[in-house]
Amino acid sequence: MSLAPFRFADLRQASDGRAELLAGLLAERAFIPPKYFYDELGSRLFAAICCLPEYALTRSEAGIFAAHGSDIARAAGPGRLIVDLGAGDCGKAAGLFPRLDPAGYVALDISADYLRGALERLKRRFPALPMAGAAVDFTRSLDLPDSLLAPAGAPRLWFFPGSSIGNFNPDEARAFLARIARACGATASGGALLIGVDLVKDKAALDAAYDDALGVTAAFNLNVLNVVNRLLDADFAVADWRHAAFFDAAASRIEMHLEARRVVDVRLGEQSRRFVAGERIHTEYSYKWTAAGFAALLNEAGFSKLKQWQDAGGGFAIFLAEP
Ligand code: AVI
Repeated sequence: MSLAPFRFADLRQASDGRAELLAGLLAERAFIPPKYFYDELGSRLFAAICCLPEYALTRSEAGIFAAHGSDIARAAGPGRLIVDLGAGDCGKAAGLFPRLDPAGYVALDISADYLRGALERLKRRFPALPMAGAAVDFTRSLDLPDSLLAPAGAPRLWFFPGSSIGNFNPDEARAFLARIARACGATASGGALLIGVDLVKDKAALDAAYDDALGVTAAFNLNVLNVVNRLLDADFAVADWRHAAFFDAAASRIEMHLEARRVVDVRLGEQSRRFVAGERIHTEYSYKWTAAGFAALLNEAGFSKLKQWQDAGGGFAIFLAEP
C-alpha cells in the first residue's frame, strides 16, 4: 500500500544553538540546557529511562490515561488537531488516538531524525490520519507554518505530557503556559491544553528515579557531552565526568549535574575552559509540583477552566485546561 507522505519541516536554527551552548559552558556556573539531551541516542536513552523500575512517572501517567481515558476524551472532545510538544517516539499521543478520534496530528520535537522515524512508523499504523512533523525548539516559538497545521479549522489540542513542564523553572513554566493559552485563544475554533505533571513525593523515591541502579540516567546525562562535542567542535571526554542527581526538597526540584572527576581542560571550538576536580556543569532541573500549586500556575497563565485526573497513589496529575 502506498502511503500519503506526511509533511515535515526542519525549523531549527543551528547557529543559535552554538551561541547558547557556548554561553552556558563559559558561564561562571556552567550549564547545558536540557533540550540538548535529545540527539538520536539521547532520545533512545530517554525512552529506556521511561521503562526503568525507579522512573514511575511514565507508568503513572499511562495508568491515568488507561483508567480515565474515556473521561478525558469526552472532556477534550473529538475532531481536534493534536499538537504534540516534544513528541519523541509519538507513543503517548498515539495511545490516545483511538479514544480522542483526532482530525489531525502535528508532532514537534528537537530531534529531527528520531521524530521522522517515529512518524514513518505511526503513518503505517494510522494511514488515514493527516499528520505532520517539525524539528523545532518549541521553547523559543510556537509559531508554526500554516501548511503543517492541517486540517486548518480543527480546534487544537496542545499535548504536553510526561511532566516536561517540570524542566522549566516556575517563571519560565508560567510564561510558556501563557504562550499556549494565547495560542488557544488565537484561533476561532479555540484550543485546549492536555498536560501531565509529576507531583512531589518521597525524596528517596525521587533520588532513585534520577539515579537508577542500571546507570541509564547517568548515560543519558553524560551523552549530552557527545552532543556538545559535535555542535561546538569541543573535546569533552565522557570518562572525565560523573553523573550527579538529587532531589532538593526546599526548591521542590531534581537537580542534575555532570561533575568533573579530575581537573579537566576542554576545547570549546575556538575557546577553552578549565574545570577543577568536583566542579559541576548543571544539565537539568525537574520541578515537582503539588496539584494545587500547578492548578494555580495554570490559572496565572490564563487558563481558567480546569479538569484534573490523578493516579491512585497521587504521584502524577493530568490537567485539561482551557482559557
Ligand atoms: C523529559 N523530562 C520530563 C524528564 C524528567 O523527568 O525531567 C527528563 C529526564 N531526566 C532524567 N530522567 C528523565
